[in-house]
Amino acid sequence: MPKFTIQDVLPLPHTPVKIPRIGFGVYRDPPNQAECVKSCLAALKMGYRHIDTAQLYENEEAVGEAVRQSGLKRSDVFVATKIWKPEGNVEKTLDSLRASVKRIGLGWVDLFLIHTPTSGPGGRREMWEALEKLKSEGGAKSIGVSNYGVNHLEEIKGYSRTTPAVNQIELHPWLQQREIVNHCSKEGIVVEAYSPIVRAQKNDDPDVVSIAEAHSVTPAQVLIRWSLQKGFVPLPKSDNPERIKSNADVYDFELSDEEMERLNGKALPGGEGAICPYNVNCL
Ligand SMILES: NC(=O)c1ccc[n+]([C@@H]2O[C@H](COP(=O)([O-])OP(=O)(O)OC[C@H]3O[C@@H](n4cnc5c(N)ncnc54)[C@H](OP(=O)(O)O)[C@@H]3O)[C@@H](O)[C@H]2O)c1
Repeated sequence: MPKFTIQDVLPLPHTPVKIPRIGFGVYRDPPNQAECVKSCLAALKMGYRHIDTAQLYENEEAVGEAVRQSGLKRSDVFVATKIWKPEGNVEKTLDSLRASVKRIGLGWVDLFLIHTPTSGPGGRREMWEALEKLKSEGGAKSIGVSNYGVNHLEEIKGYSRTTPAVNQIELHPWLQQREIVNHCSKEGIVVEAYSPIVRAQKNDDPDVVSIAEAHSVTPAQVLIRWSLQKGFVPLPKSDNPERIKSNADVYDFELSDEEMERLNGKALPGGEGAICPYNVNCL
């Protein structure tokens, strides 16, 4: 296996855009702007170059503020956000997208996703058409979807020739979503893994613990490394500076084929391993 580094990127299909292989998630409840700015600044300082926000998280401004305060060049940081719901027609939905770009305040976003497919065929089409318009006017460098199943991805082909660049789904050893992952790989769609460390709920799993001990790393590092070795783009979230650092310190060890197989064997049937209510298994 070629050695990974924190600077690694993947090309996004049908765009000149490259996505950093690890992202920093900023989902929080309740939202706290000051803490989000602090966490993003810590992440950028530690080498993350990709932040994943959403309208729903109510911290788009904070993410933009952190990027500005970081002193990094705009083009060196990849910022992604997500639209939560359609507004009734394409123009109004486009206004909602533009409002996000304005709140973030960095001129453009690198990736804009539809957060969930739950708004039905009409709502999904409205959001996709608005995203295509936003992309053509320069507000988003690339566009994609989240929590989409195969049927939702196939539906887009009925009204658009633009393939989503990304599908962001819940992915970890207990929820592997193999059908949609294989479909995305066939279609050249980059798969992002949300909740990659299962919100720390599996840190006591005996296999994870023994693999972590064998490499002198943490359970979270094992799970992030599994995600990278599977070819996903993991988006670990933390507000703790030490964990922000260690979650991105996953480049000087490698899981063996046997360790990968042990983790691959954790998948629970029928989406039982899901922890997020928006994932395709729960819709
Ligand atoms: N598209 C969607 O529908 C969707 C849904 C869910 C999430 N997401 C995205 O994916 C990102 C990550 O997912 P997530 O936030 O659900 O879960 P996650 O990244 O798997 O886990 C985050 C939780 O684990 C804790 N944690 C982080 N690092 C740790 C470590 N090294 N050891 C022990 N605990 C640790 C964090 O607490 P501390 O902060 O205290 O460290 C936090 O409670 C989100 O922030 C969001 O950007 C997208």
